[in-house]
Amino acid sequence: MSPTPGNAQKFAREHGIPNHFTQLDQMLALDEIHLVVIGAPNYLHCEITLKAAAAGKHIVVEKPFCMNMAEADLMIDTCKKAGVKLMYAEELCFTPKYVRLKGLLDEGALGKPILLKQSEKHDGPHAPHFWDVERSGGGVSMDMGCHAFQFFRWMNSNNPVKSVYAQMSTSVHNEKTRGDDNGIIILEFENGVTAMAEESWTKPGGMDDRAEVYGTEGVAYADVLQGNSIQTYSQKGVGYAVEKAGDTKGWSFTMYEENWNYGFPQEMEHFVECVKNDRTPLVTGEDGRAVMEIIFAAYESAGTGKKVSLPFKTDAQKPIDLWKKSHNG
Ligand SMILES: NC(=O)c1ccc[n+]([C@@H]2O[C@H](COP(=O)([O-])OP(=O)(O)OC[C@H]3O[C@@H](n4cnc5c(N)ncnc54)[C@H](O)[C@@H]3O)[C@@H](O)[C@H]2O)c1
Repeated sequence: MSPTPGNAQKFAREHGIPNHFTQLDQMLALDEIHLVVIGAPNYLHCEITLKAAAAGKHIVVEKPFCMNMAEADLMIDTCKKAGVKLMYAEELCFTPKYVRLKGLLDEGALGKPILLKQSEKHDGPHAPHFWDVERSGGGVSMDMGCHAFQFFRWMNSNNPVKSVYAQMSTSVHNEKTRGDDNGIIILEFENGVTAMAEESWTKPGGMDDRAEVYGTEGVAYADVLQGNSIQTYSQKGVGYAVEKAGDTKGWSFTMYEENWNYGFPQEMEHFVECVKNDRTPLVTGEDGRAVMEIIFAAYESAGTGKKVSLPFKTDAQKPIDLWKKSHNG
């Protein structure tokens, strides 16, 4: 279902799906649909979740969970009352290389974790709603930082986050957005682990997705895309190398099974199993909410220049409002 003419039709044709809709209510009225995946712009996640829950559908919500804490609470509460399952779609918890990385940590091969690092970088999003903070809620620290925050919580066995410190800038895309296009965010966990997220919308040369785990008895580095790619040299260029590759003449990193390497099919398969067997998803609405709290704390920190302690309560409508307080409107 998509209100944009042709979008759902094209998707249905490509995947052999019998129905496609431009109206949400029409799709939700179909009894044979048991679960929905909300892959709409961020500002619509809450509204669509409430409608889908009222129609009795189980729900997967794409990252970031929503726009603010009030929405997060409402989404979790409404799904509970409606008796539908709610999964927060953080695919990094299903990325095969990161699942192995967590396995190394869990079996004790690296000793106790000291420092966790994760970064996502590319040269900027493909659709206008990401750049418009009214519809996205924030820039790269929200859009891609959310991946790192849930990655850290998962790797650190959901130990509570104690504080957040962030440095953000709009370094290149000032003409295009009020949002941050670069962010460095440091999390301090109650068990003493430090985590550092590096996020960028200004890095040319294709998508980067990397993690490092430093423990008391070992260290491990994982590079999801370049580390798994075919190192390719082509004088003509490659038709498709990797997400946001740009010019692929000369050396490039040619990805294979990109969706599988990210863990997207595994993530959806997991939720189908949860619905079938009445299990709790690996990543829940509560995890989505916890990530939102970290996002808000990060923007508050970038705005004040100070470390922010958690729990962090805020009535702000969207994270960016805490960073650019004096620039609103
Ligand atoms: N997990 C990930 O790595 C990942 C990657 C990309 C995007 N996302 C998330 O997915 C969401 C969508 O991003 P995208 O890149 O697919 O954007 P997109 O612009 O490519 O697609 C958004 C789709 O939503 C549709 N839409 C617009 N209004 C709608 C409405 N009222 N009801 C239903 N559908 C509506 C649009 O027509 C379009 O088909 C965002 O929240 C984004 O953060 C997650």
